[in-house]
Amino acid sequence: MTLLQLAGVARSVQLPDGDNLDILTGIDLEVSVGDHVSIVGRSGSGKTTLLNILGMLDEPTAGTVSFEGRDVRGLSGRARDLARGRDIGFVFQQFNLLPGRTALEQVVMPLMYADGRMFWRRRELAAEMLERVGLGGRLESKPEKLSGGEQQRVAIARALVRKPRLILADEPTGALDIDTGASVMGLLDQVATESGAALITITHDLHVAARARRHYRLDGGVLRPADLELAFAASTLVVDAKAEAALGLTTPAGAEVAVTREVLASPEVLAAPEVSGSRDDPAAREMSGEDG
Ligand SMILES: Nc1ncnc2c1ncn2[C@@H]1O[C@H](COP(=O)(O)OP(=O)(O)OP(=O)(O)O)[C@@H](O)[C@H]1O
Ligand SMILES: [Mg+2]
Repeated sequence: MTLLQLAGVARSVQLPDGDNLDILTGIDLEVSVGDHVSIVGRSGSGKTTLLNILGMLDEPTAGTVSFEGRDVRGLSGRARDLARGRDIGFVFQQFNLLPGRTALEQVVMPLMYADGRMFWRRRELAAEMLERVGLGGRLESKPEKLSGGEQQRVAIARALVRKPRLILADEPTGALDIDTGASVMGLLDQVATESGAALITITHDLHVAARARRHYRLDGGVLRPADLELAFAASTLVVDAKAEAALGLTTPAGAEVAVTREVLASPEVLAAPEVSGSRDDPAAREMSGEDG
């Protein structure tokens, strides 16, 4: 069942000098209930602009966005805010927690706008959700006292506590070290799967992207299917760069990271034929027991 559909979506802005800047063009994307999708692209390729449209925070300048079969344009601002609060959870690179509030308060927050049972049971539901992300013992901790990984877990609990149909994650591991990032992504996948939510992850990181079932690349505002296997194969170049660094052939400390970023985000690496095989079929993957 289709949850979210973009057809011919474009976004342009008018620059101060009067010129038009096309940030996104001709974007078609269909996301099913429970789907896990990744979008990779280099800095400035339009990822956040796309995420804002997916999350009903911004409107396209052309094309249509439908959520559960309804054209989002037909909704009033208030209806859109309500739908966003109810159906979409956001996870950001910088966690975006409120300073000075406890973990429990952060996670209770979205439930203040829920109705009925969810509202009345808000503290209990928030505590349960924090328990699920492994922070049952830290309900009273404020962000200042939590590590980056723990803060992102709070943010995940906050994004999921209203049981949204769609989770949008913008560089969710961008501020975390590799191991913490991997465990946070594992958790995000798991809680999204358990609650049947669709997950769209925007990232620079191929390993993060590989966790999804379907992969896309955004390049110059155009969205295409991406072949991550090809990208991984090409990333052996990075291993060579690391080996060189280990051998002292390259001196600057940050060099290998720079190479990684550049190689992984290059269009050649992420270029893929416009086909999607059975591995892109979530149902098939589910049946074969693969988790991405
Ligand atoms: N309101 C705006 N006015 C002018 N230019 C904009 C506006 N919003 C975005 N842009 C430009 O559109 C391009 C895409 O921006 P966007 O933030 O979507 O990129 P991104 O892929 O998320 O990059 P990053 O990986 O660095 O976060 C950039 O060149 C940016 O400067
Ligand atoms: Mg961005």
